Amino acid sequence: MKTAAVTLTHSNRQNRSMRYLYVLTVFCMALTGFGQMPIYKRYYLSDIPGFGWLANFWTTRYVHYAGAALLLAIVAYMLVQHVILLRARFKMTPSGYLRGILLLGIVLTGVLFVIKNFPVLVFSPEFIIALNLSHLGFVMIFLLVNLYCLIFKKRWTKAR
Ligand code: HEM
Repeated sequence: MKTAAVTLTHSNRQNRSMRYLYVLTVFCMALTGFGQMPIYKRYYLSDIPGFGWLANFWTTRYVHYAGAALLLAIVAYMLVQHVILLRARFKMTPSGYLRGILLLGIVLTGVLFVIKNFPVLVFSPEFIIALNLSHLGFVMIFLLVNLYCLIFKKRWTKAR
């Protein structure tokens, strides 16, 4: 019994640090993603001391790639944790499903973007525009939904 309680506390603590890492990664992805557009130099944000790197397209691109790898690892961890290990105790809320679907859209369009950036496959200009609009569209809706969930204290999961 004591061992179970210790394991639970350990897993709660572990989940809290994973949540912080997830929020930090999403913030970093949004920051570097907008650097791909690029907007920081145009609006003088990169003139702020310490923000100069945001105007460098390749730096933001590589940080976005590294963040994407980390995000995929976090998503895989969360899926195993909630869909397999904690399934009996927790269930997804409607806002959790919505955020999950939006995140899936971001990841799928992001992966297609990465494939597009290799010289192996050539996508049509129309498809690239659709990809751009959908990655950005998913991102904007995802960020707005997260803001709503933060204000109204909506959680991804709840106890069964
Ligand atoms: C919450 C996570 C994410 C956010 C907030 C985000 C945000 C953005 C934004 C705002 C852009 C600029 C879009 C545009 O130029 O129209 C962008 C571009 C890009 N994103 Fe993401 N993104 C995320 C996740 C991902 C993931 C998971 C991947 C890859 C697996 C990815 C790959 C890319 C690539 C390759 C580009 C550059 C597109 C190009 O070639 O022009 N992103 N991202």
